[in-house]
Amino acid sequence: MRIAHISDLHFGAHDRLVTEILTQTLIELDPDLVLASGDITQDATVPEFAEAADFFRRLPMPAFVIPGNHDLPGLDLRRFVQPWKRYRDHIARDLEPELHADLVDIKGINSARMILPALNWAYGSISARQRQDIASFFAASTTPWRVLTLHHPPLNPSEFPLDVTVFNSEELLKTLGEQKVDIVLSGHQHHAYVETRVMNGHTTLFVCASTAMSIRVRKQPQGFNLLDFSDKSVRIELRQLSGERFLPYSAVTHTKV
Ligand SMILES: [Fe+2]
Ligand SMILES: [Fe+2]
Repeated sequence: MRIAHISDLHFGAHDRLVTEILTQTLIELDPDLVLASGDITQDATVPEFAEAADFFRRLPMPAFVIPGNHDLPGLDLRRFVQPWKRYRDHIARDLEPELHADLVDIKGINSARMILPALNWAYGSISARQRQDIASFFAASTTPWRVLTLHHPPLNPSEFPLDVTVFNSEELLKTLGEQKVDIVLSGHQHHAYVETRVMNGHTTLFVCASTAMSIRVRKQPQGFNLLDFSDKSVRIELRQLSGERFLPYSAVTHTKV
């Protein structure tokens, strides 16, 4: 099974040429699924969501999408009254989708919050209810690979200076270890990496994607990740924009013991 992991599309602050290149690249690579880990829009406006919906419609493969902090209206009454209406109207009714495939079970979690006990509401959080949902989903899983996706990363990689780790990450990591989750796909940092952590004797890979096509690049150009699963191993390839092509520049293969 092949999954293309894209993130931080930021429609409204996207580069149209890069969006076109990405669309053609995804069509050529022909993954079974395109998984988008949040920040689908820049300002959660109706035209941005409509353009994002068009992007997903043009892809011939199914999409699995979760929201990010930019998919909530800003300081606008809608943020507090109907925070997810536009996302639901245009992208998906379900903010926390689930998928059972032959080799992979995927659980999506919404870590964006309309309000947070912090000055910066761009941060994300995981609740006790969400940890319980993750535990229940994976306790019933019988597939070789267990994949969780949430927009805000549970870990901060050593090379990333700004700590944007999701709130309650220690509790989340405990749940991931207990449920032997194999892969966590996230975004938000606009910085691609694969970090490995062993918990309860089980290896979990924390995979983050760069921004797929927005102009909001940090230290890396636009990029995405390609995951190829077989029964016993997964190959994770990181691609980034070079000229007018998304080229592989790093890859990790993990085999189950
Ligand atoms: Fe973002
Ligand atoms: Fe974000």
